[in-house]
Amino acid sequence: MVNLKESPIILGIESSCDETAAAVIRGRELLSDEIASSAATQAKYGGVVPEIASRAHAEAVDEVVERALQNAGVKKEQLDAVAVTYGAGLLGALLVGLSFAKGFAYGLGIPLIGVDHIRGHLAAAYLEDVTLEPPFLTLLASGGHTAILYTERADNFRVLGGTLDDAAGEAFDKVARVLSLPYPGGPHIEALAREGRNVVPMPRMLKGGGGYDFSYSGLKTAVINYVHTRQQRGEAYSRADVACSFQHAALDVLVRKTIEGAKETGAEVVTAGGGVVANGYLRALLTEACAREGLKLVLPVKKHCTDNAAMIAAEGLVQYRLCNFSPLSLNAEASIPLVRSSGK
Ligand code: KG4
Ligand code: ZN
Repeated sequence: MVNLKESPIILGIESSCDETAAAVIRGRELLSDEIASSAATQAKYGGVVPEIASRAHAEAVDEVVERALQNAGVKKEQLDAVAVTYGAGLLGALLVGLSFAKGFAYGLGIPLIGVDHIRGHLAAAYLEDVTLEPPFLTLLASGGHTAILYTERADNFRVLGGTLDDAAGEAFDKVARVLSLPYPGGPHIEALAREGRNVVPMPRMLKGGGGYDFSYSGLKTAVINYVHTRQQRGEAYSRADVACSFQHAALDVLVRKTIEGAKETGAEVVTAGGGVVANGYLRALLTEACAREGLKLVLPVKKHCTDNAAMIAAEGLVQYRLCNFSPLSLNAEASIPLVRSSGK
């Protein structure tokens, strides 16, 4: 039986994709937040190579955790729990963080808390506003998901709508490739879009056609066709205009459906999470729309939108307070359906 503390010190570890991250929190206070990324190596291959990611995690995890403890001014004996991403993600990559966390928790005799990566993205908002409590509505937009979620209680959320085909981040990455931009595409499209105009016609997702669900494959294909047709005809086109027009079409719909979701659920607080939420245009649009509608917006700093361990520690705290501890037999999972993540 664990004696629950009011403000436990929790170490969070994240290794689901190409970032090896570790962070320490005390209650909701963030004490340290470290990250080592193999994205630069991966960029050479135009995407994440699982084998390279696993090896990079194995090389970095020791040092990143050590740095997180040191910068937090915390000795490992002071830790109350270890929270770690167990899914979804690349199996080999997940296993590195998970095995490390198991060893750490076992060695120290403290609880292990397996964290669902998606719930981690949701929990990033708890660090941004330490007074935040459910209910709130969340826009989740990452490389694997686009969804509108309504968190009623800390331990479960309702899925208003989700990803029908490509996720928003995935569409950014694929469009970036056709525009000869490096991986990951999101930040590069954002930068190029600043030099362009929203003048290239793009198909829009219609609310009537999908409720709160999101489909990005039509938009992605339209961009690919536009570029390929121009290239085949030897016609000049502006890459910046394509990036800008795509960005508008991809992101406007997220804000529109978020506001509709808030109205339908009666939520007064809106939060957001996932790598795409690091996008400056989306952040500005969301801020403006929430202010117009009289909604309180809790927007995690950019660093906590893309993959990080602070959000894993934050979700660890939620689970700690619910006494949801994991057995040392916990296994990594490559995919976790959103409905299962919801806790229902
Ligand atoms: O949440 P995340 O770091 O990892 C997943 O859980 O998937 O999200 C990664 C995704 C990538 O597809 C990346 O291109 C996108 O987030 N992303 C962005 C931006 N920064 C990262 N998309 C648009 N604009 C950005 N500034
Ligand atoms: Zn993520």
